[in-house]
Amino acid sequence: MPLLFGTAVFNEEQHLTIGGCDTVLLAEKYGTPLFVYDVAHIRERARGFKRTLDSLGVKNKVIYASKAFCCLAMYQLLVEEGLGCDVVSAGEIYTALKSGMPPENIEFHGNNKTEAELVYAVEQGVGTIIIDNFYEIDLLSKILAEKNQTQRVMFRISPGINAETHDYILTGQEDSKFGFDVNSGQATEALERILANERLILQGVHCHIGSQIFSAEGFLAAVEKMLLILNEWKEHYDYTAECLNMGGGFGVQYTESDDPLAPDVFVKAIVHAVKGQCELLNYPFPEIWIEPGRSIVAEAGTTLYTVGSQKTIPGVRHYVAVDGGMGDNIRPALYGAQYDGFLANRKSDEPKELVTIVGKYCESGDVLIKDISQPPLQAGDLFAVTSTGAYGYSMANNYNRNLKPAVVFVENGQDRLAIRRETYEDLTSLDM
Ligand code: LLP
Repeated sequence: MPLLFGTAVFNEEQHLTIGGCDTVLLAEKYGTPLFVYDVAHIRERARGFKRTLDSLGVKNKVIYASKAFCCLAMYQLLVEEGLGCDVVSAGEIYTALKSGMPPENIEFHGNNKTEAELVYAVEQGVGTIIIDNFYEIDLLSKILAEKNQTQRVMFRISPGINAETHDYILTGQEDSKFGFDVNSGQATEALERILANERLILQGVHCHIGSQIFSAEGFLAAVEKMLLILNEWKEHYDYTAECLNMGGGFGVQYTESDDPLAPDVFVKAIVHAVKGQCELLNYPFPEIWIEPGRSIVAEAGTTLYTVGSQKTIPGVRHYVAVDGGMGDNIRPALYGAQYDGFLANRKSDEPKELVTIVGKYCESGDVLIKDISQPPLQAGDLFAVTSTGAYGYSMANNYNRNLKPAVVFVENGQDRLAIRRETYEDLTSLDM
């Protein structure tokens, strides 16, 4: 049985429907490849995080990590749901502001924010800048002095935690390009330098231990480490953090074998750990901020492809090619990420066979799903790959000058275009 998320179900014609919309009709209307987002599922995830934190009686902020997927329609949804957003470039700030996101609900991350980006953030009134390194303390201080302005900031701590995930998306370990390291004393030096500058209004500290994490242990270890250092700073510098930002990274399900904790279980575990440590150390309970990205949008997204050519190498492999691939989903090629997929436009009782779903890009690594059991697929069939809502469109590219797909939002039987498909004119629009 295919893994179905949110409102996805098959109708009597055995067509996949999402948000009450028939995907066969969506594919006809908008073409393929097509990203379909189940808006009700996004709303439920967004509300769920907020509900859990509120129910635990803690002051909190849920800040969506834009890098997972953003566009005007996505930011508008966040505004409707009362979430803030984390951005990592002026481009994301620009898009968020254009959507009507209040600047004070934006927090700006990044290990190498440029001077122009910092100036833009300060001028636009971005709520919090999360300082990542010493260079940035100096650069931001210089900008604020020139403008005679103050800025709310946090700083990112690399707590030295090795969470279990792919190396490329692991970020909380000592050997990381992100944040101030605790063990070498850099985090303490950062605190001293930030406290010494009256233009930097320190709201608290941040850590993010990695992404696609399935269990609470890494978060619990990070909470312990963060509170130990905060408590040290309380004693030595009389500094008490108003907010503790624990980042994102809550895992999602891509295939049957993925078994992450439910979002509310992660959140409860973090809050209980903070409460426990605060009681133990007699530390004032801070406001808790979280930055979920993937866990809000991944399972809400489905990519629809049209089946094209096939190649069978007897005794070796049966390739089935679809009309997208590594341009709209680089994750299998980049991380060895695994996905589930299935026939979305008709019922088939024929016996299943093992196939490998590949894309149309000129690269042997352009494999979307290796060895998946499917009924015989035919040219023209609609093939759905599920859980593609995070880091799919946002990491899309124009390799081979293929067009980036359209993105459609579906809810209560209504579909609306969130991002139109690129055109050939778009492709050459920057060429001189
Ligand atoms: N906060 C910070 C500071 C982060 O660096 C990230 C992700 C998040 C929040 C959101 O993490 P999430 O809840 O989405 O796991 N391209 C990779 C993922 C890179 C994540 C980078 N940082 C992938 O496709 O798996």
